[in-house]
Amino acid sequence: MDGPSILAMADLATPMAIRVAATLRLVDHAGDSGATAERLAADTGTAPHALRCLLGHLVTIGAFELDAGRYRPTDLGRQIGADAPAGIRPLLDITCAGGRAELAFVELLGTITTGAPAYERRYGRDFWADIDAEPRLRRSFDAQMNWRFQVQAPQIARRFDWGRFPEILDVGGGDGAVLAAILRAHPSVHGRVLDLPPSAAAAAERFTAAEFTGRGGAVAGSFFDPLPAGADAYLLSDILHDWDDEHARAILTECRRAAAPDAVVVVIEPVRGQGVGTAMDLFMLMCFGGRERTVDELTELATGCGLTLRDTSPVSDGRTALEFTTAPPT
Ligand SMILES: C[S@@+](CC[C@H](N)C(=O)[O-])C[C@H]1O[C@@H](n2cnc3c(N)ncnc32)[C@H](O)[C@@H]1O
Repeated sequence: MDGPSILAMADLATPMAIRVAATLRLVDHAGDSGATAERLAADTGTAPHALRCLLGHLVTIGAFELDAGRYRPTDLGRQIGADAPAGIRPLLDITCAGGRAELAFVELLGTITTGAPAYERRYGRDFWADIDAEPRLRRSFDAQMNWRFQVQAPQIARRFDWGRFPEILDVGGGDGAVLAAILRAHPSVHGRVLDLPPSAAAAAERFTAAEFTGRGGAVAGSFFDPLPAGADAYLLSDILHDWDDEHARAILTECRRAAAPDAVVVVIEPVRGQGVGTAMDLFMLMCFGGRERTVDELTELATGCGLTLRDTSPVSDGRTALEFTTAPPT
């Protein structure tokens, strides 16, 4: 048969074997000199015969090699080690927020049938309620957000003229990594993060650092409730794509209500049609009922909430900034 095999593409054994290996930290337990299946089973609290079966498949796919009874990670396998430079292990660890969310893909049929997120069907509550109930999940999610923006947060801070705004409210700003980058790049700017209580607490902690000289802070709350009024810019970074149109409109409306007449709402999103992969789009639908949108779709949503597009600009690798005013269109 020519071309890729659809059966191989649909295989679940390999992705799950890799994810379980990452969760059990097999690469770190085995170390460079490798270890026997019995030793690894003892170290990870797993059943020896079952772990040997898992290791057998990891050898087949080239993530481990077996030499004189010892399983040793290969260069491929070392990518899921704790010290790997790319730091991807937490994305695959099924006890961390991202890895746990991916497993909801087994309920994809329900999402496609009803349009409702699979996450809730699998775990009994929506993603945000689930991670807020479990501090380890929340911490791993905030860490994942920071990891994905290591390069982008400084780009967002430098490539957009934040210095115009004395006071920014970063709505759904997580533990404050983006706002911190903005405050570092623009010493005249003050800002606060608004997020759910656990992330707001982490952001508040971040802004106690001396380098921010009291310019940063955090407010615990929901962006579906009235927002603190009077900021000069309301930032929504990677927020709207987590939500369906109805919820996205509700968030934009709260920003519009809180914003003073000359304030702006800045939406930063990956834009559909500009390098956003279909797999990510499917993930947003499956996990949150959200979606990636085009500039026109985002503008239409915002216009319906009384906002007027002033400018769009590429603001980081893979993200576009849309700046909206509260003034009526001219
Ligand atoms: C994808 S993260 C983006 C975080 C940050 N803006 C960034 O770009 O790194 C979405 C954020 O929305 C927050 N969030 C979810 N529901 C919320 C709500 N009802 N009110 C306030 N924040 C919420 C989450 O806690 C999370 O920090």
